[in-house]
Amino acid sequence: MFKGLFQKKKVNTAKPEIVMDLSNLDLNNIPQHVAIIMDGNGRWAKAQGKIRTYGHQAGAETLKTIVRAADKLGIKVISAYAFSTENWKRPVTEVNFLMELLSRYLTNEIVEFKENNVQVRFIGSREGLPAKVQEKMDHAIAETKDNTGIILNLAINYGGQAEILHAVQTVAAEVAAGRLQVEDIDKQVVEDALYTRGLPPPDLLIRPGGDLRISNFLLWQIAYAEIWITDVFWPDFTPEHLVDAILAYQGRERRFGGLISK
Ligand code: IPE
Ligand code: IPE
Ligand code: MG
Repeated sequence: MFKGLFQKKKVNTAKPEIVMDLSNLDLNNIPQHVAIIMDGNGRWAKAQGKIRTYGHQAGAETLKTIVRAADKLGIKVISAYAFSTENWKRPVTEVNFLMELLSRYLTNEIVEFKENNVQVRFIGSREGLPAKVQEKMDHAIAETKDNTGIILNLAINYGGQAEILHAVQTVAAEVAAGRLQVEDIDKQVVEDALYTRGLPPPDLLIRPGGDLRISNFLLWQIAYAEIWITDVFWPDFTPEHLVDAILAYQGRERRFGGLISK
């Protein structure tokens, strides 16, 4: 139903070459897990006199490029914030477009995921997501579950507060059923009840679009993530910006509350 809104497929479908200057990077200190708040699509589109959805479509292309770049750099996990639990507040036409875009992205990228050994995972609630999107999600999981390369962890209908609430309910149900004692609830029990179970916490959080906030992303997990914010809008974000973020990360001293990092 959104066919008219989607931009025509480009004739040249060749993937853009990944251009990165790695000369100043310490390849032994690459963040394992990078979380990205993919923000600024609407403003990017508006700046060129286009409708917001045009920006979302461009943003999906950026994600494809950045996953390839991250893989080249040796990053193990990319968590990408695609749709928040609060984004339902947007006009229904924009929400529907985003759902259609997700569905198309998951369909079209399967070949790429397979070729590049990408394992796709999802964090967030399935509640309220169109059946078609859920089917594509299940299909992407099934098709990539044995891949051993980079993990693309997509946050869809995700909110950090909703995730913690869900974890509290899960743990409380275990206690109510007599399978868990209150005094046995520790950090590990909580982490095992989060959507990110089994993943290391993000080392680096990137927010394009310039806003100095977290917007309910990975609240528990980013406790000690290094934060890098740029005014560049997500559709304009390039592998070079990813390198810039990692260079900044490598210049930081991570103390985790202690006094020395080395
Ligand atoms: C991020 O871009 C994408 C989603 C939230 C789905 P926005 O749509 O928030 O773009 P801006 O922040 O309005 O420019
Ligand atoms: C965060 O961006 C959510 C995603 C990128 C999916 P928002 O645009 O929704 O965040 P706010 O409203 O500016 O905090
Ligand atoms: Mg935004």
